Order: sequence, then C-alpha cells, then structure tokens
Amino acid sequence: ASGEEQSLRTPIVAVLGHVDHGKTSLLDRVRGSAVIEGEAGAITQHIGATAVPLETISEISGALVNPDDFDLPGLLFIDTPGHHSFSTLRARGGALADIAILVVDVNDGFQPQTLEAIDILKRTQTPFIVAANKVDTTPGWNPNENSPIQQSMEAQSDRAESRLNEALYEIIGQLSENDFSADMYWRVRDFQGNVGVVPVSAMTGEGVPDLLAVLMGLSQRYMKEAMAIDVTGPGAGTVLEVKDERGFGKTLDVVLYDGSVRTDDTIVVGGLNEPIVTQVRALLQPRPLAEIRTEKQFEKVPEVRAAAGVKIAAPDLDDAIAGAPVRVVRDQPVAEVVEEVQAELAGLEVETEEEGVVVKADTLGSLEAIADALAEAEVPVVRAEVGDVAPRDIAVASTANEPKHEVILAFNVDVLKDAERRANEQGVRLFESDVIYQLVEEYEEYVDEIER
Ligand code: GTP
Ligand code: MG
Repeated sequence: ASGEEQSLRTPIVAVLGHVDHGKTSLLDRVRGSAVIEGEAGAITQHIGATAVPLETISEISGALVNPDDFDLPGLLFIDTPGHHSFSTLRARGGALADIAILVVDVNDGFQPQTLEAIDILKRTQTPFIVAANKVDTTPGWNPNENSPIQQSMEAQSDRAESRLNEALYEIIGQLSENDFSADMYWRVRDFQGNVGVVPVSAMTGEGVPDLLAVLMGLSQRYMKEAMAIDVTGPGAGTVLEVKDERGFGKTLDVVLYDGSVRTDDTIVVGGLNEPIVTQVRALLQPRPLAEIRTEKQFEKVPEVRAAAGVKIAAPDLDDAIAGAPVRVVRDQPVAEVVEEVQAELAGLEVETEEEGVVVKADTLGSLEAIADALAEAEVPVVRAEVGDVAPRDIAVASTANEPKHEVILAFNVDVLKDAERRANEQGVRLFESDVIYQLVEEYEEYVDEIER
C-alpha cells in the first residue's frame, strides 16, 4: 500500500478590508471569543489563522447550512490587519487564500485599504464575497440577534430598510466602478461572474449565518476538486511570519495548504541568501477555535495536516523570510526539494530589465505586490530585492541612464546610514512609504515633475 490518504482539506478564507471595518469583530462573533479585547489598540498586527469546523458553522447558520450537504471539513480563516502600514500582511493573506471576505463598513463605504484589497484579489484571482458590515448602525435599526439577514431586513421599518438599501447599493456601485458586477447575495445565481454582497453585523450577529452559509456553499460548489489532497503526503506551506518565541528561538508561523508536517521532518524554507534545510524540533498549534497570535499556551503536536496554521520551531531559522515557501522532505532527495524551493522563490522574484528603478521591500509578498503595481504603471525595474536599502543599491541606482530611474523605492525597510549619505552625494532620490499605491503614486508624480 502507498499509504496515501485522499481527503478534502479546509478551504483557506482571507478576511480583508479597511481599518476598523470589523474584520476581527466578525471572526470574534464566529469564534464566540473576544480576541479583540487582547489586542493593543484593537489593531490586528499579525495574521492569525482560525479553524472553524463544519459543525460550528452549521450551529451558527441554523437552517441555512445542513451539514449533510457538505463534505468539506470547515473553513480556515486568516484575519489580516486593515491598518495602512500592513500592506504586506494583506498581500500574503490574499495570495494564500482560496476565497476571501472583503469587509466593508456600510456607512464608510470604500476606503484606501478596501481598494488595495481589491487590487490584491484581482491580481491573485481570488474569488470573494463582500460583507457589508455594521448594518446595526442604520438609523432606526431594530436588532434581531443572530438572525438571517433577509428575515431581519423584512422586520425593519420601511425607513430603516430603505436607508440600509441605499448604503448597500452604494457599495454595489463602488464594486462596479472597480470592474466587479455585484448584487445582494440572494439575487446572485452565478457566483463566478458576480460578487455577492452579504449585509451583516458583527455586533448583533445578524447576517453571520448567511455569511458562513455563502462561504461554505461557494467552497463546496467551486473548490471541492482543488481541496482534494493527500493529507499524509509531504507538506507545503507559506511562511506568514518569522518570530522569536520564548524557549524556542526563531520560529515560523506557517499556513500549511498541502500534505502534512511531523515532528523530526526535514524541511526546506526560503531564506535571505539560499534555502534553509533544517529539522522540525516542535510543532506548536493553538487549540481549535483559538487564535495563533494571541494563544500563549501552544500545544505540542506530533503532526499537522492541511489546511492549518502552525508554528514550527527549528534551528537555523534566522534568515527565513516571510512570504517564502516551506516544504517537507519525505521520500525525496533533499537536493531536489531545495531546487524546487529555489525555483518557487525565483518565480516569486521580480523580472528585471537592463534599465529601470531599484525596489527594496521587507518581504517577498510586498516585493511582488510593488512589482505588479509598477508593471501596471509601466515603470521598468532594474533590481528588486528583500532587505534594507544598502550602499550597493545606491551604486546601482546612480548608474541609470535616465534621471527618472536614478531612484530607489523602499517599502517598509530601513535605509542604512551610509546608503543615505551616498544617495545625497550621488543625487539618488529615495522614495519611502508603507503603503504600496502611495509609493507608486509619489514616484509617478515625481516623474511628471521632472519631465514637465
Ligand atoms: P483592524 O484590524 O484594525 O483593521 O480593524 P478590524 O477591521 O479588525 O475592526 P475591528 O473588528 O477591530 O472593529 C473596529 C471597531 O468597530 C470596534 O470598535 C468594533 O466594536 C466596531 N464594530 C465592528 N463590527 C461592528 C458592527 O457590526 N456594528 C457596530 N456597531 N460596531 C462594530
Ligand atoms: Mg482586526
């Protein structure tokens, strides 16, 4: 026997949206926990992964989800921060996701990070639904705790209902301005060509049954085949964060999307200079329905199967980079897996040209996102790397043929002291921002200026 065990894995759901629009609150409502209370300033600073089993979904969704209709095991949610300085984490969350929820505050509508999230979803071709959150703030709203949304809307005064509908049509209009045909989810027949809008309230739980039912239905209908994996095969995942953990040194927060990882497995991880080959010392997992980033009491487990968030403790992880692939080596020569990881990293690397701008970013995810934004703006790139701005970057930028290319675009990285001095001396212009589209915009404005 080959020992293969075909199984359906949990679809990965990224929760994206502008700051304070209610991403964490929505997940809290689902979890029945209060992660939000443990957060500094209620800003989510790290990606967390939360597994919600089918039974829980069916309990919350009541009549909307009959567990017998599903064979997917549940949903794995990845919360992402909406604060403008966390573009990278959004990009990584978006790239990993099988499906996404774009959370939009009904009163606030589309905001900068909503647009950024839409760009990520377009680029990664991730199907998504929109959670039009905070419907309870509609003037005159009469809350119906945990009720399906259509029922609750029918129970409102005409005035409240039409106020909400106005706000919802505003969002549908904004989606269409961004090239997505959208409608209230109950009117959508073809979810592949249309975005469903689900009115919800994280505060009262209204619409949450619908949200989970739609996600589960979409996953089952369109993603079932992609979810069929050998859960005992060698694991594959993506590094979300590289973190110091007391007693373990540097650890990797990983979302595993294929196969399994076991204690003592040899793994290959993308590193700053070359792939790192190391051995798993411990696999640390939060309990079900708990959050990896707030859970202090990790449980050591012998094996983790996809899809799951897991913290991997292993030696030699200092050079591991967020956004890089992680692969388990089993019944395959290590060198082969190293080559595969190298190839995957090269695929993530940005295509460069003879002449163009220099780009530095903090992670592979952000580097890719900036490169895409630059490609769209038809700005050529001569050098694109993860890491701080160093003197050698200035040297490269200063040799550009055109003045508009004597620049460095730096995203979320430091500029080394020597580099700053050399940039001044050699007339290399530095652009720094922690918001991707602002970085590109500022550069474009600069080009307009010098070419005028
Ligand atoms: P970041 O992680 O910082 O991007 O924010 P977030 O999108 O996770 O928002 P969060 O869940 O922290 O909520 C922001 C604020 O909105 C909090 O004060 C919540 O209590 C409030 N809030 C969230 N959802 C609702 C809702 O449905 N109704 C009302 N009235 N308030 C809500
Ligand atoms: Mg949050």
